[in-house]
Amino acid sequence: MQSTIVEIETEALESIEQAFDSVVLEQITIKYLGRKGILTGFLRNISSLSETERPDAGKNANILKEKLEKAIQTRQLKIEAQIDEDFQGIDVTLPGRFTRRGSFHPITQVAGEISDIFLRLGFDIAESPEVETDYYNFEALNIPKYHPARDMQDTFYVSENIVLRTHTSPSQPRVMEKTKPPVRIISPGKVFRCDSDITHTPMFHQVEGLMVDKNISFGDLKGILTTFIHQFFDMETSLRFRPSFFPFTEPSAEVDIRCVMCKGAGCRICSKTGWLEVLGSGMVHPAVFENVGYDTSQYTGFAFGMGIERLAMLKYGIDDIRKFFENDIRFLRQF
Ligand code: PHE
Repeated sequence: MQSTIVEIETEALESIEQAFDSVVLEQITIKYLGRKGILTGFLRNISSLSETERPDAGKNANILKEKLEKAIQTRQLKIEAQIDEDFQGIDVTLPGRFTRRGSFHPITQVAGEISDIFLRLGFDIAESPEVETDYYNFEALNIPKYHPARDMQDTFYVSENIVLRTHTSPSQPRVMEKTKPPVRIISPGKVFRCDSDITHTPMFHQVEGLMVDKNISFGDLKGILTTFIHQFFDMETSLRFRPSFFPFTEPSAEVDIRCVMCKGAGCRICSKTGWLEVLGSGMVHPAVFENVGYDTSQYTGFAFGMGIERLAMLKYGIDDIRKFFENDIRFLRQF
């Protein structure tokens, strides 16, 4: 009989020690001390023992009963302490915290929209350096030494022959030097000019476009740019091609769109003209083709360049270009 009590004790204490939560502990309590429990059953059977065995057995069983009750109580306190520790400082009744998702900068977004339209038209994306040689930024583009665009006031010079590119057009000779026609690329990126006011920042973004093949005409230029404007703004936007001048295109044209604010009635944004200038373009000048070794009797092409900030401002009604670079979170969050 003694050995049975010892067996119950070892087994019970071990499982109490291993109980990791109150539910398990409750099951152990029922298993040993419940109405039909092992120890309860043992105590109930004492009357059936012999006179000599009875006193010791009863005493030992009662001692064990107390011991188990105590062990269970101690274990219960430990479990509660552990719960307190796990949840220290956490109020599980509070609602969850909302985390705000970030978003792309509006310029990145608009550059993406522009690229998507041209990618659908079969253009590839070409990269070109921001720190550029005088040759690619000017010379290769038929901009001679005396041209006003080279004026110290516009160009940031790194050294005598190195500049921060003033436009994305150097991507044209760079791509053509490495590729045989046909060429169909756009090249988005940062450009730099020594200029700063409500409509100019020293750094801004442009997208260059270039298409060269046999039989490319001004009609192709008009078709591609009209398609682009219609997709970027909307199908109702009318355009006009206005004669202009760039040293690297001939003939050259600037593209105006019907004012997106007043629809042509005349307002502050379009200076009462009803039109907004959005990009420069033209047929690639033969001198540029010669600089990259293209046969001018076989190939023609067109090029264009547009300012990303300008397009973004018109599309989203932003009135000050500096807003793009102040990084005011209230402005950026609207995109
Ligand atoms: N590079 C010109 C500018 O910055 C734009 C342009 C690009 C014009 C290509 C014609 C052809 O103003």
